[in-house]
Amino acid sequence: MRFFLNARRDVEIVNFDILTYAGNPESLADVAHDPRYCLIRGDITDRTAVDKLFQLGLDAVIHFAAETHVDRSIEDASPFLKTNIFGTQCLLEAARPFPNIRLVHISTDEVYGSAPREAAFKEEAPLDPRSPYAASKASAEHFVTAYANTYGVSAVILRCTNNFRPFQFPEKLIPLMIANATENKPLPIYGDGLQERDWLFVEDYCRAIAIALEKAECGSIYNVSCGVSQPNLKIVRTILQVLGKPDSLIQYVQDRPGHDRRYALDSSKIQRELGWRPLVSFEDGIRKTIEWYRANSEWLDHARSGEYRNYYERHYDRRSETFRS
Ligand code: TYD
Repeated sequence: MRFFLNARRDVEIVNFDILTYAGNPESLADVAHDPRYCLIRGDITDRTAVDKLFQLGLDAVIHFAAETHVDRSIEDASPFLKTNIFGTQCLLEAARPFPNIRLVHISTDEVYGSAPREAAFKEEAPLDPRSPYAASKASAEHFVTAYANTYGVSAVILRCTNNFRPFQFPEKLIPLMIANATENKPLPIYGDGLQERDWLFVEDYCRAIAIALEKAECGSIYNVSCGVSQPNLKIVRTILQVLGKPDSLIQYVQDRPGHDRRYALDSSKIQRELGWRPLVSFEDGIRKTIEWYRANSEWLDHARSGEYRNYYERHYDRRSETFRS
C-alpha cells in the first residue's frame, strides 16, 4: 500500500481486507487520511461484496488475501480452504466480465515443495505442495490459470520466497524472534534449525509486483527471489547478534510436522523478461527490520496482546465505512 502510494501520485487504492487476527489498521495509520487511500472491511468469499468492488472502476487487482501461517494450517486447514481457494475462485468469478482488469495473484514458493540441495526451482517445475497451506495456494493457482485460459481473465501469478519486513505479524520467524529476543524470552527453533529459506525484503517484492502489474503477459508465472537460501539458525543468530543478545536464548523445540527442508527459487525469468532484480541485501533488510521493531514496541505489544483485533470495533464508523482516528 505504502509502496504504491509513494511510487505514484496518480494512484488510488482500495484496500479490501477482512481484518483477521493478523490484520491491523494501525499499520496503515500514516496513510489512513490520504485521500487516495480507502479501507473497506470485507470478506473475499462474499461474492456480493467482491462484485461491488469491481463496480468501483478498477484498473488492477493485487490479490494478497490469504491465510498464510503454515503452523495454523496444520492445526486446522478449513480457513485455508475457505479463504485461499474459495476466496480466489470468488474473486475470479467477479473478475470474469472485466478482461481489461489486470489481476496479480500473490502465490508462494511453497507450491513447489522442498527443493533438493543446491537446486533452485524454475517456473516449469511440477507443483508438489506439502503442507495444507501450500496445498491451498497451489489449488488457488490452478483456478487462476484456469480462469485466464477459459475466460480470458488477465491474470499473472507471482511465486515469491519468504518476505521479511516491518509490520509483519509476530508469528512468522523473523518478527517472532525479534520480539522474543527483545524481551529475553526463549527463541523456539523447530527441529535442528537447519531448514533453509530464501528471504526477500519487502521493498524488492513490491517492485516486482509493480513491474508485473504493468509489463507481464496475461497467463504468465514468475518466481521472485533473492537467490540465496539460508538456514533458520543463521537468521536467528544474526538477529541475536544485532540485538546484542546471547545465543543461550535459543531453544530447540519439536519440529513442525512435514516441515519442508529447503525453499529455493530461480528468478532468472523475471530478471530477463521484466528487468526486475533484488536491490536490498539481507544484511541491510534485517537491520532495517530490527530497527523498526525496536522503534515500534507499542505496535508489537498490541500485536502480541491481540489488542488490535478490537481496533476495528473501536475506530470504525459503519455508516461512513471509514476509520476514525
Ligand atoms: P515461517 O516464518 O513460519 O515461514 P514458512 O513456514 O512459510 O517458511 O517459518 C520460517 C522457517 O522458520 C520455517 O522453516 C519454520 C521455522 N520456524 C521456527 O524454527 N520457529 C518458529 O517459531 C517459527 C514461527 C518458524
